[in-house]
Amino acid sequence: MTNANAHLHSDLFKPVQLGAVQLQNRIVMAPLTRSRAKAGDVPTELAAEYYAQRAGAGLIIAEATQISPQGKGYAWTPGIYNESHVAGWKKITDAVHAKGGRIFLQLWHVGRISHPDLQPGNALPVAPSAIKPDGNAFTESGFKPFVEPRALEASELPAIVEQYKIAAQLSLQAGFDGVEIHAANGYLLDQFLRDKTNQRTDNYGGSIENRARLLLEVVEAVTSVIPSERVGIRLSPISPANDIADSNPKALFSYVVEQLNRYKLVYLHVVEGATGGPREVDGGFDLQVLRDLFKGIYIANNGYDLEMAVKARDRNLADLVAFGRPWIANPDLVERFKAGAALAEFNQATLYGGGAEGYTDYPPMQQS
Ligand SMILES: Cc1cc2nc3c(=O)[nH]c(=O)nc-3n(C[C@H](O)[C@H](O)[C@H](O)COP(=O)(O)O)c2cc1C
Repeated sequence: MTNANAHLHSDLFKPVQLGAVQLQNRIVMAPLTRSRAKAGDVPTELAAEYYAQRAGAGLIIAEATQISPQGKGYAWTPGIYNESHVAGWKKITDAVHAKGGRIFLQLWHVGRISHPDLQPGNALPVAPSAIKPDGNAFTESGFKPFVEPRALEASELPAIVEQYKIAAQLSLQAGFDGVEIHAANGYLLDQFLRDKTNQRTDNYGGSIENRARLLLEVVEAVTSVIPSERVGIRLSPISPANDIADSNPKALFSYVVEQLNRYKLVYLHVVEGATGGPREVDGGFDLQVLRDLFKGIYIANNGYDLEMAVKARDRNLADLVAFGRPWIANPDLVERFKAGAALAEFNQATLYGGGAEGYTDYPPMQQS
């Protein structure tokens, strides 16, 4: 083997079992919001083409998908709460399966990361506490400053837990191989976990146990209706994404992961560092602690390239490695990695919204 092919020894490129399903390799496509759903939050046929082009991933984790109209926080994101969503997603899962791929759906409630323009009846977005995030919402008429959200009543939480449960059932009806509970990146479940955004004084705020309660109720509900070997979870324990922080992330997330072990989830997917930014963060901690605590598959993400991924496997720092941005302009990313080929760069202007341009028109390697 020549030095240029040294990576080919890696079991990154070999099949592996993930609960109920076999993956062709250990390379995952991380969830990527592309804001191209049509009216009624229905995913399009174009999305079927887009995901099928990327079916060479061991596992695709499809983009964050709202579990209810209230859970929406960006223009043109898809939903998973009614029959038209199931029908739309079915075309996508069929297209991916036809090419030998596997696909999970990421279940999403944005909490305060929304805007009245995106909410039913132009209502205020909801959150654990009425604390306005810094930054802007992406609405159909452009970026608009976030507003102060409405603090949820404890009596409203069971209905949200129920929505996750229904969304999980609908996901399997739509042909997904499983679901990923989105508890990362400063959205609703993460807002409950971390103390910058959760200042409640009831059973859902204060102590770590209380702040983890909603997440664990969601996990319990989802695993009560679909097999736990089809349920994964995403955390971003030290990411400041969406203006979030915690005073003791190591204690908080160690507790969360220990509790998650009760539910035998198939994987823990960790955004290591600031999402899409530095892997080392002030006030952070060594995330291998979480991998060591978790009794299941560990998916690492954030800023990986091929060399880092090979190293992570050689040193057994991760079971699977998820890539986000590299998949956008490289639909055949696994083939390019195998060939040691250069990667194409994506066009920033076509990331969110629009049609085929910058979505399904990135060519595979031979043509580029
Ligand atoms: C365009 C874009 C959309 C994203 N959408 C999501 C999403 O829907 N859900 C999520 O958990 N993370 C999302 N992320 C974060 C990625 O999944 C990933 O964590 C991040 O890009 C870091 O991985 P990378 O360095 O391999 O790109 C998004 C990132 C980008 C660039």
